[in-house]
Amino acid sequence: MLVSAKDMLEKAREGKYAVGQFNINNLEWAKTILATAQECNSPVILGVSEGAGRYMCGYKTIVGMVNGMIEEMGITVPVALHLDHGSYEACYKCIDAGFSSIMFDGSHYPIEENVEKTTELVKICADKGMSLEAEVGSIGGEEDGVIGAGECADPEECKMIADLGVTMLAAGIGNIHGKYPANWAGLSFETLAAVKDKVGDMPLVLHGGTGIPEDMIKKAISLGVAKINVNTECQLSFAAATRKYIEEGKDLAGKGFDPRKLLAPGCEAIKNTVKEKMELFGSINKA
Ligand code: 13P
Repeated sequence: MLVSAKDMLEKAREGKYAVGQFNINNLEWAKTILATAQECNSPVILGVSEGAGRYMCGYKTIVGMVNGMIEEMGITVPVALHLDHGSYEACYKCIDAGFSSIMFDGSHYPIEENVEKTTELVKICADKGMSLEAEVGSIGGEEDGVIGAGECADPEECKMIADLGVTMLAAGIGNIHGKYPANWAGLSFETLAAVKDKVGDMPLVLHGGTGIPEDMIKKAISLGVAKINVNTECQLSFAAATRKYIEEGKDLAGKGFDPRKLLAPGCEAIKNTVKEKMELFGSINKA
């Protein structure tokens, strides 16, 4: 059964580790990430962007698929199915479809409108036992074709949104989606500490988990980050392993082209990436 991310994140914040959110794009990714979480005895959050939602034939299809996998694969670790960077409309669609968690990305609205819409969603999520992530200060890089410059959140605005009763808060601290440029200034721990000071025990979320140096990840966890999102790194490892397999000509061996065999090396690569991240985030054996 899918669960809200609330309990797993509160436990993570208290235990000073973080739960990984790994984005899914298809059946193979979902199956691989679930199997890895089970093997590592780790809680896990499956992230679904709006683009991935459309690709996978809509939110209802995804809910059916993931629920089916949890049952058929005998998954017993806590699994949350989470809308990543949801628009207001997508949040409602995921609530109806049976997601257990949503992110309302209201960071591009004026703060008053962000507050109004978040308040409404807080109430619905509380009624349904779902978790809700809010964002303050846009996270840079590219997400579904939209490029943000990345900014540091205003701690006062973070407090205003946290006080509405959201489950977790993504605050921009200089992090960006995708690869970090060579001249990246690093995470702003000053901002993170100021946000933590204002929001107290609220679990914080670090987006753009690909390519952040390990010491920064650990420091962010020590300052209240309890959820870390990873997408690009799985894409890169999947693509590299698939490319290598094709270049070696193995897909043409024997009986010829078999999509199940073709996708297997990429899935193995994702498994290794997810395991590495779970180790780094400290979530292994925390189910
Ligand atoms: P990366 O693609 O940089 O790993 O970030 C993922 C993310 O933050 C999804 O919301």
